[in-house]
Amino acid sequence: MDGSQKDKLRGIISSTIIFECSLKKYTSFSIGGPAECLILLDKKDELQPLLRFCSLENLPWHVIGRGTNVLVKDEGFAGVIIVLGKEFKEIHPGESRDGKKRSLMAGAGHSLTRLSALCSDYGFSGLEFGAGIPGTLGGALVMNAGAWGGEMGQIVTEVTIETAAKKIRVTGEQLDFGYRHWQGFAKYKGQGVVTGATLLLESGAPEEIATTCRELLKKRKDRQPVHFPNAGSFFKNPAGESAGRLIDSCGLKGMRVGGAMVSTVHGNFIVNRDHATARDVLNLMDKIKKTVKESKGIDLEPEVHFI
Ligand code: EPU
Repeated sequence: MDGSQKDKLRGIISSTIIFECSLKKYTSFSIGGPAECLILLDKKDELQPLLRFCSLENLPWHVIGRGTNVLVKDEGFAGVIIVLGKEFKEIHPGESRDGKKRSLMAGAGHSLTRLSALCSDYGFSGLEFGAGIPGTLGGALVMNAGAWGGEMGQIVTEVTIETAAKKIRVTGEQLDFGYRHWQGFAKYKGQGVVTGATLLLESGAPEEIATTCRELLKKRKDRQPVHFPNAGSFFKNPAGESAGRLIDSCGLKGMRVGGAMVSTVHGNFIVNRDHATARDVLNLMDKIKKTVKESKGIDLEPEVHFI
């Protein structure tokens, strides 16, 4: 970005702008080169002007949420990284239209784990599976995050998307979620940002909901690596199979390339063992894919998104 673009940007955005910002601090993998510019966007009414600016100036942009499911290249990102802040974390609990269920409107910047804890305080059941999922609501919707048999697609009734020109409410058949994927979002990719959603939940006893959340958190801690930075499950589970089990049975746990290592706890986690680069992770990914293909005949597909 040149000086005049930086000045224009400062004229539009009142919250924090960091130029040449290392993305290590903004990703759960603690890996990645600098973004040309990172914006911690606190104000809702600055999003559309920002998207218009990026479009006019031909600047690529990307929203990273809490950066929990991404691998950023070592060269970094030549464009604007947006992190949704304060006003994108609003929350409005209520009743459904017929008064039988509970509805929750929440901003996309909310952490899913925090949202799950709030739901248990309100006595809203249905988001217990989100306890321990480290991303934001927005990220969880775009990838239909899930665990323990639950996933976002089961509880969402409306998603709000903003583009440079308009605010769109997505409902009904357009909420066509698949495994770790929201097909309908494809047409908004690079155009729109998920800014919030309405979830439809059941009423329940707060203590019971909290107990379930605690149990699921414990299960997660027992089965998944917690000591080294990572990006969650690295590969999608192939139909009827488990990527973790496949990788484990190929004897790949503990395999290293540079600072990246296949977790010794769970085969489907690549961990940043010691100052790993994105290149280390990609090389390790290729080795895992090659071994699993040769020994099991299965193609593994990454769940992690690459920036
Ligand atoms: N297994 C092994 N060896 C391993 C890892 C797993 O044999 O190293 C076996 C387990 O014993 C189990 C099976 O594989 O029988 C499945 O493993 P697990 O229960 O850990 O679940 P997963 O399929 O690997 C999925 C999600 C996780 C989610 C858990 C819990 C995907 C790709 N992953 O993992 O989501 O937390 O279920 O429901 O769908 C994420 O998406 O980032 C994520 C962590």
